[in-house]
Amino acid sequence: MKMVFLALLGLHSAVAVIHSLKYFYTGSSQVPNFPEYVVVGVLNDVQMDICDSNIKRAEPKQDWMNDITKDDPEYWKTQTEICFSVQPVFKANIETAKQRFNQTGGVHIAQGMLGCEWDDETGEVNGFNQQGYDGEDFIVFDLKTETWIAPKQQAVITKQKWDENKARIAQLKNYLTQGCPCWLKKYLNYGRSSLMRTELPSVSLLQKTPSSPVSCFATGFYPDRVMIFWRKDGEELHENVERGEILPNHDGSFQTSADLNISSVTPEDWRRYECVFQLSGVKEDIITKLDQTAIQTNWGKTGDGSSSGLPLGAVMGGVVVLLLLVVGIAGYFLWRMTNMETSED
Ligand SMILES: *[C@@H]1O[C@H](CO)[C@@H](O)[C@H](O)[C@H]1NC(C)=O
Ligand SMILES: *[C@@H]1O[C@H](CO)[C@@H](O)[C@H](O)[C@H]1NC(C)=O
Repeated sequence: MKMVFLALLGLHSAVAVIHSLKYFYTGSSQVPNFPEYVVVGVLNDVQMDICDSNIKRAEPKQDWMNDITKDDPEYWKTQTEICFSVQPVFKANIETAKQRFNQTGGVHIAQGMLGCEWDDETGEVNGFNQQGYDGEDFIVFDLKTETWIAPKQQAVITKQKWDENKARIAQLKNYLTQGCPCWLKKYLNYGRSSLMRTELPSVSLLQKTPSSPVSCFATGFYPDRVMIFWRKDGEELHENVERGEILPNHDGSFQTSADLNISSVTPEDWRRYECVFQLSGVKEDIITKLDQTAIQTNWGKTGDGSSSGLPLGAVMGGVVVLLLLVVGIAGYFLWRMTNMETSED
C-alpha cells in the first residue's frame, strides 16, 4: 500500500493539469499513542482536513477550508458525522482481516484510500478505492472493469461478495466519477489562490564528507511540479546523478534534491558543473554553480553531534512523509465504505 501511495503521489508531478482529491482512512488496533481512527483529506497533495478519534471531530487544516462555512454553516458538523459513520467499518475490517490471517491479537492497521483525479484540460476523470491491511494491498477497485481485485488470497472471499453487489458497484462508480470530481472542483475553488500560488525554494549545496556526493538541495517550493538536475557545459547529466524524491515540508511547501557524485571530477572541472532547478509555470531557472566555497557541510565541525549535512528541514520533511505513509492517511466520504464481511451498507 505504501508503494501504491507513493506512485499515486508521484503521478501528477509529471502532468501539470491534473487535480486530485483523496481521502486516506486508517483504523488501528493497539497502536500506542495513536488514534484508533484517522481520516485525512488531501487536495492536490495538500492536506486540507482531518478527523480522528482523539479530536473527535472533522476540522480544517487549511485557512481556506474555513470559508466553506460561509456557504454551509453546518459543513464541519456534517463532515464529522460522515467521518465517524465509517469508523465501525474499519473496526470490523480489522477483526475480519485478523480472522482471515489467523491472527489473534497484536498491532494491526487497516487503511483505505478513496478519491479521484480530474484533468482540467481534457476533463478526463479517474477514480480509485483501495483497502490495505498491515501495510499491504488487500482489495482494490478497478473502475475500468467495475470489479474488485484481490492481490491477497485472504481477500478472495471479499472480492467475490463485493463483485456480486452490482448496486454497490454502481453507487461507488457514481461517486468516483460524479460526486468526487464535483467536490474536487468545489474545494479547488475555495483553495484557488493558495493552491495556484508559486513559491520559489532556497537552493543549497550540501556535502557530508569531502568524498561524498554534492547534494543540490531545494526546499520551500510550491507546487510540487519541479525539475532538478545537474548539467555539465550546459548539457544535462544522467550519469553520476541521483535524484531524490519530492517530499512535503510541514508548512505545505516541498523539498527535493539531486546528488552529483564528484569522485571523478577534477578540481579544475568543477566550474563546468551547475545544478538547475525549474518550477512549473515559472520561466526563470534557479542555477547554482558547483563551487567549493558555496558548499555547506558539518564535516570536521564538532559540537552539535550531528553527522548529517542535511538541514533540519530535510530531516523533518522525511519524518512527515514517514508519518503520512505509516499512519496512513485516510478519508471520509459521502460514499460509505462497506466492511469486508458483508456487502450491505
Ligand atoms: C488459517 O488456519 C486455517 C485452518 O487451520 C488454514 O486452513 C489456513 O491456511 C490458515 N491461513 C493462514 C493465512 O495461515
Ligand atoms: C561515485 O562514483 C565512484 C566511481 O564511479 C564509485 O566508486 C562510487 O561508489 C560512487 N559513489 C556513490 C556514493 O555513488
